[in-house]
Amino acid sequence: MSVTEEIKSRIDIVSYVLRHVPELKKAGRNHKACCPFHTEKTPSFVVNPERQSWHCFGACAEGGDLFTFAQKMHGWDFKEALHELALEAGVELRQRTPEQLARADHLDRMRGLVSAASDLYHEQLFKPESKPVLNYVSETRGLSRDTVGLFRIGVAPDRWDFALDALLAMGYAEDEIIEAGLAVRNDRGNIYDRFRNRLIIPINDERGRAVGFGGRALDPDEPAKYINSPQSPLFDKSRLLYGLDRARSAIRESGVAVIVEGYMDVIQAHQAGYLNVVAQMGTAMTETQIRRIALGRAKYAKSIVLALDSDAAGQSAARRSLEVARQILVEDYSGKFQVDIRILQLPTDQDPDDVLRRSPQTWPQLVDSAQDVADFVIDSETETLPPDASMQARQQAALNILPILSASENNPYQRENLQKLARRLRISERDLLAWAPAQSPAPNAPRPSRRQNQTLDYATLDPDDAPPEYWDSEHEPAPPDIDNGQGPPSVYHSEQQRAIEPFCLSLLLKNPNLLYKVNRKLRELAGADSNLRHGPLGDLNENDFTHSKYRILMTYLLEAMTQDDQEPLEYLVSIVDGELSADLSALLSDDAQVVSSRMRGAYLVDMSDIIERRRSRGAVANEVSSMLIGRALQLRLQRLERERIEMQYLQEEAQTGADIDEQHRERLSQQIMLSMTAKARLDHEVRYA
Ligand code: UTP
Ligand code: MN
Repeated sequence: MSVTEEIKSRIDIVSYVLRHVPELKKAGRNHKACCPFHTEKTPSFVVNPERQSWHCFGACAEGGDLFTFAQKMHGWDFKEALHELALEAGVELRQRTPEQLARADHLDRMRGLVSAASDLYHEQLFKPESKPVLNYVSETRGLSRDTVGLFRIGVAPDRWDFALDALLAMGYAEDEIIEAGLAVRNDRGNIYDRFRNRLIIPINDERGRAVGFGGRALDPDEPAKYINSPQSPLFDKSRLLYGLDRARSAIRESGVAVIVEGYMDVIQAHQAGYLNVVAQMGTAMTETQIRRIALGRAKYAKSIVLALDSDAAGQSAARRSLEVARQILVEDYSGKFQVDIRILQLPTDQDPDDVLRRSPQTWPQLVDSAQDVADFVIDSETETLPPDASMQARQQAALNILPILSASENNPYQRENLQKLARRLRISERDLLAWAPAQSPAPNAPRPSRRQNQTLDYATLDPDDAPPEYWDSEHEPAPPDIDNGQGPPSVYHSEQQRAIEPFCLSLLLKNPNLLYKVNRKLRELAGADSNLRHGPLGDLNENDFTHSKYRILMTYLLEAMTQDDQEPLEYLVSIVDGELSADLSALLSDDAQVVSSRMRGAYLVDMSDIIERRRSRGAVANEVSSMLIGRALQLRLQRLERERIEMQYLQEEAQTGADIDEQHRERLSQQIMLSMTAKARLDHEVRYA
């Protein structure tokens, strides 16, 4: 049994919920109360003891297990919930392997070293010999004492052994000091300080622990204006964002993250009271960075403003912004993370530091004036076209822009963008569309028709994979009106139903990014209807799975996608233990035999196809992702069917129960309607797409 299962088997969800929701009352097979997560007058919060699950059929329209309840109730992330509930249940948390322990120990020691160095540099700033540097900081850079203290700004004196000597004296070894990036060994084997005669800006991780340094030259003739700590497991430039530890709550509150280019820009912004500002680490914007501010544990930002310096000689700065903007559109970050990304071009020859020092009060307007990234691309690409540009020139511009715009297939403004481009180029939208590159493979490519006439091999059924009890017919009412000939195709065969779960999970685990594609499809089907979008056509999650181990793995996967410390798969492998890790490796296995034995032959052909393709091409083929989308939609159909049955029960109870009023009944039927709408859309997609 995995740790999570063990915990769940020891803590009954009903009594756990009861402690936090004392008015929880037994009602039929369920327990009910007004939802603790939103305000309501009639109870739509249901706890099901058989499934050990909870669900809010009201405004929240979500549910889950003991873990999700505890997370939501206490604002814990998954790790915290695991920790707390394990304590409560008296379950030993996973023993880490000696290797993992050694690695964690080593990282801890490195952190200690970096933080000791940070203290050294900071204290050095207040020594009499550093007076000129302190003057530079306060006079030239305009930083207050408080700011210097908050950001722990320091100085590396003009010496070869300042940090080295002090750290050696503290008991750190030369190799450790080198590994932490504080010293360098040259070809002749001599070792000396990396940071000399520089202003030191410690760079923290998201939790506020110093992990590296930026060093700004104090000598104006020094060719390298900044040097930074070298890349290491502790200091990973592609993941870090300078200032995020101080900016996260402001970003969460305002929903806006402003990304600037320089450390000094961040410090100046914070000093001026604009706390939602962070900086890239002198690298191109990475997906991980966006993930950290757009998703994070708390889904920080809904909107990201990229403030790009225009200090480099005009033209090339504009080109560079354009490159960044193009990259954003092509990667479809906005779609992937549901953030709107805007580009802010600063006044010529100014960086945020300058603007904030000269006229801090103009900053908010400036941020507001940032342009939607697609708009920005259209503007910059057409800016140089003379009013009387030839048809050829305009067509060429269209050909430059269209692939970028259509790459961002989820951009809600796509249609507006097209109209705008059409107006700008005086070319009809229809012609533009005709030139746009095909977004998906030929729509009428033959699709496998295995869905029908699937033969099933019950003999190979693995008892361990038996369905959870609530699949049993005595617990489940016979699905009414389902086989009336017009109902969905025969995907509702329970054997096939279950086979879909490991099939989808396996693909998702191997290619976590496919999750975004599935969610994008669901979003597309929900269209503008936010009730669908946040209800029956919401993002894929653990509730789409019934088997507890798949539910747990899916929870872990979602968790893995939002944490920042490791690659999703690496994270999963590190957190999963015991029996569950055997399931995980079976699902991850590239061996068609292992995987398909778990799937009892139902999708054997599909799976070996995939594995074959992965072998031959080493990449996720388009077909794989469209097949996964198809199956994932079926998975969702099954879930909606389960929920509908549950809601019907509630409705029946509502008709007989005295404690339930008209409003509640009304809401239930609305939800059933909503769920039917979602089903119809899914059905249509599954059958005809
Ligand atoms: P800038 O050259 O715009 O520096 O580099 P700045 O922030 O305006 O610094 P001041 O105001 O002159 O002190 C922006 C960022 O690019 C990285 C640093 O992260 C810097 O904050 N950079 C710049 C380097 O890593 N190395 C360099 O040599 C220059
Ligand atoms: Mn600057």
